[in-house]
Amino acid sequence: MFVPDLLRGKRILITGGGTGLGKSMAGRILELGAEVVICGRRADVLEEAAAELEQANGGTVRWRPLDIRDPDAVESVLGEIWTEAPIHGLINNAAGNFLARTETLSHRAVDAVVSIVLHGSAYMTLACGKRWIADCYPGNVLSIVTTYAWTGSPYVVPSAMAKAGVLAMTRSLAVEWGPKGVRLNAIAPGPFPTPGAWERLVPTRNLAAVLETRNPLGRTGEHEELTNLVAYMLADQSGYMNGEVVTIDGGEWLAGAGQFSFASALSDEDWEEINPKKKK
Ligand code: HXC
Repeated sequence: MFVPDLLRGKRILITGGGTGLGKSMAGRILELGAEVVICGRRADVLEEAAAELEQANGGTVRWRPLDIRDPDAVESVLGEIWTEAPIHGLINNAAGNFLARTETLSHRAVDAVVSIVLHGSAYMTLACGKRWIADCYPGNVLSIVTTYAWTGSPYVVPSAMAKAGVLAMTRSLAVEWGPKGVRLNAIAPGPFPTPGAWERLVPTRNLAAVLETRNPLGRTGEHEELTNLVAYMLADQSGYMNGEVVTIDGGEWLAGAGQFSFASALSDEDWEEINPKKKK
């Protein structure tokens, strides 16, 4: 759907880029001509992913082990990356999450999620933003949030709190940094299955089936549907988009919010009973 060199000349940094959706994004970005730098906690996973991505898509993938919860490590790794060449776009993709009854959580469990999602995204955004602003260089931050960043959600409360914070950061800095040439946007994906997220969030087949099919389109998202949106939002052609969050969830959250969504379960007979004059 794009010209093949849409992202040529760009250098994009993806947190959590060695697995799951981050890896899929890396593949599409590479395919469209950009250089990619992937970060994650495990060097072996990154090394393997980088080789696989280059093999499949061509181009150059650099990788750096980095725990984004550690602000000193973020500063030092970003310094090294910038010494090689500046980054044009940052994707805050790394996340931590699990399904649990909130009253069972320890403070460490809260910190485990909030420190990755909220603190990690903030450290990365600051480390890139400071450099872009100091060098008068245009920058682009794309953060992966969820629809429960604004609806909230039971059973993933630390994640909901943290994603809401990332969305607030996105909107706040879009206004503060826009005049300095840095734009920030977010994407709120619905169910796009990956082994990491599914094993933590919907570990049984029954739970997974509910999450995968309860949206109005009755299916999960294809990674390509998400990665094409990512590519558009990284491209200069979307340059006027700033402070936005784009939802790509098959209509899932609206279906959950609409007061009469339950009526989609009614049969033809039920509808005839409600209004016998209007036969289908
Ligand atoms: C209750 C749990 C728990 C669980 C961990 N903890 N899992 N508590 N239920 N299922 C508690 C532990 O008991 C411990 O507290 C504390 O959390 C820290 O656990 P660790 O395993 O030591 O933490 P760590 O190794 O840092 O792992 C972080 C993690 C893990 C968040 C817990 O899941 C992770 O690394 N995830 C990264 C990948 C990921 O989650 N991807 C999915 C993102 S999907 P105590 O008190 O015992 O010491 C997403 C989008 C959602 O965000 C939208 C989908 C539609």
